[in-house]
Amino acid sequence: MIYPIVAYGNPILKKEAEEITEGTDLSALINDMYATMDHANGVGLAAPQINQSVRLFVIDSSLMLDENDEEKGIRRAFINPIILDEYGDDYGFEEGCLSIPEVRAEIIRPDKLTIEYFDENWNLKEEEFSGMTARVIQHEYDHLEGILFVDYLKGLKKRLIQSKLIDVSKGKISTDYRMIYPLR
Ligand code: NI
Repeated sequence: MIYPIVAYGNPILKKEAEEITEGTDLSALINDMYATMDHANGVGLAAPQINQSVRLFVIDSSLMLDENDEEKGIRRAFINPIILDEYGDDYGFEEGCLSIPEVRAEIIRPDKLTIEYFDENWNLKEEEFSGMTARVIQHEYDHLEGILFVDYLKGLKKRLIQSKLIDVSKGKISTDYRMIYPLR
């Protein structure tokens, strides 16, 4: 099943998501999240974006890399993740979000992280990620905390996208996937 994606302005995107009870069968939800992400050509999708305020996201960072890249992407689900540490060099990368179509902005984040999470079989993992995979994880993890990439923009950069954000909330945009607009 492909879910509609919640657009910017919906309060669920600003809420801290709830932890999921260990052992809960999430296989159908995770499959649907992969299908929804793929349908929208996304590299990541967090549960709040399909109107479910729980701590789960899926990513496919391989789409951001090609065979010439040294880094290999991953396609994976993260349940109840905790970023334990972020380190390495800060660098800027232009991010976008399926909930905020037509808006992109350079965001600065550290290039490495260590994360603890449950995989889809409820095995507890602790792993280090870097590069594009780390970047996608940081963006999706923020969704579980109620943080959007545009929240990092300040001053002029923030003002320049303000009217575009209102357009997104009103559905005055065109996307190839279905969305839920809070102001329409
Ligand atoms: Ni996003």
